[in-house]
Amino acid sequence: MSLLEVKNLSVQFNTPDGLVTAVNDISFALERGQTLGIVGESGSGKSQAVLAIMGLLAINGRASGRALFEQQDLLSLPARALNSIRGNRVAMIFQDPMTSLNPYLTVERQMTEVLELHKGMTRSQARVRSVQALDAVKIPEAARRLGMYPHEFSGGMRQRVMIAMALLCEPDVLIADEPTTALDVTVQAQIIALLRDLQRDHGTAIVMITHDLGVVAGLCDEVMVLYGGRVMEQGSAESIFYQPTHPYTLGLLAAIPRIEQGGQTLLAIPGAPPNMARLPAGCPFSERCNWAEPRCASQRPALSALSDRPGLLRACHKSPGEISLPAGTGQA
Ligand SMILES: Nc1ncnc2c1ncn2[C@@H]1O[C@H](COP(=O)(O)OP(=O)(O)OP(=O)(O)O)[C@@H](O)[C@H]1O
Ligand code: SF4
Ligand SMILES: [Mg+2]
Repeated sequence: MSLLEVKNLSVQFNTPDGLVTAVNDISFALERGQTLGIVGESGSGKSQAVLAIMGLLAINGRASGRALFEQQDLLSLPARALNSIRGNRVAMIFQDPMTSLNPYLTVERQMTEVLELHKGMTRSQARVRSVQALDAVKIPEAARRLGMYPHEFSGGMRQRVMIAMALLCEPDVLIADEPTTALDVTVQAQIIALLRDLQRDHGTAIVMITHDLGVVAGLCDEVMVLYGGRVMEQGSAESIFYQPTHPYTLGLLAAIPRIEQGGQTLLAIPGAPPNMARLPAGCPFSERCNWAEPRCASQRPALSALSDRPGLLRACHKSPGEISLPAGTGQA
């Protein structure tokens, strides 16, 4: 039994345009010490997938499927039981820093509260542990900075505070939703290195969300590529980076910013992500795909395995042999 097993997870929202399916039938299994990357452009369903697992969907959202953590289904647990797991055994670094940091309370107050609630610590025990947590994410002068408010930290330091908060209770699973977006390249690299160290030291399992495949290179064991709320390709990181078989994965690989190009994206995928309320009937990527053929617009390709590539799943009408990398891309 895996540490976290997500089966056939879908998320639907009630909207004025009707029912919108933001996440459509995704499944994955995560073992202790492993990292899964969830990659896709803006609006592909990355955040809603993990918010559903955490029981944090907006009021008009509804999740179906299962998210088994140690055999308990997080999607159907009573609020009280879920609260004892959330932030404790399964923790999240949110895309929006202010979702997890209260601007009106010092970092000390926010951290000690979590430890008093989940670990039954006294205030002074919690304070010692909080300083250790800030030290662990390499915040200089942690004891002094503990008394500061979130706005007194720089962007990179605030991100570290969020990571420290998420790791306070030494969770078994850490969900990191774009933890490095909006940070400069050096700080990004430091945060990734930090997550890798924490994983090595504590065996934490990580779900890493990003729109940039380059960020997950070297960190992830498995990668799930989402588009329009659906899995386009899913498999080992090695396979996704070095032997991609799906046109959308190829597009993402080509769009990785290159350092030699001054961090500029050379080959952004033409067009924009689809309107989720009006997805094409066939392949969601059909309107932007260089390899599209007439049936792609009308027939939805099933997510299926390839006999010669164990563990790889892809949803495309064309065989891998018919898809080839544009020149100069594909090296993550
Ligand atoms: N409360 C809501 N009501 C209706 N639709 C919603 C709601 N929240 C999200 N959605 C839809 O769900 C889709 C997926 O959103 P999600 O936040 O998962 O995207 P994402 O992949 O995390 O994108 P980004 O990289 O921009 O964070 C979006 O297209 C959005 O329109
Ligand atoms: S099914 Fe067709 S449109 Fe979709 S990715 Fe494959 S070739 Fe492109
Ligand atoms: Mg998001």
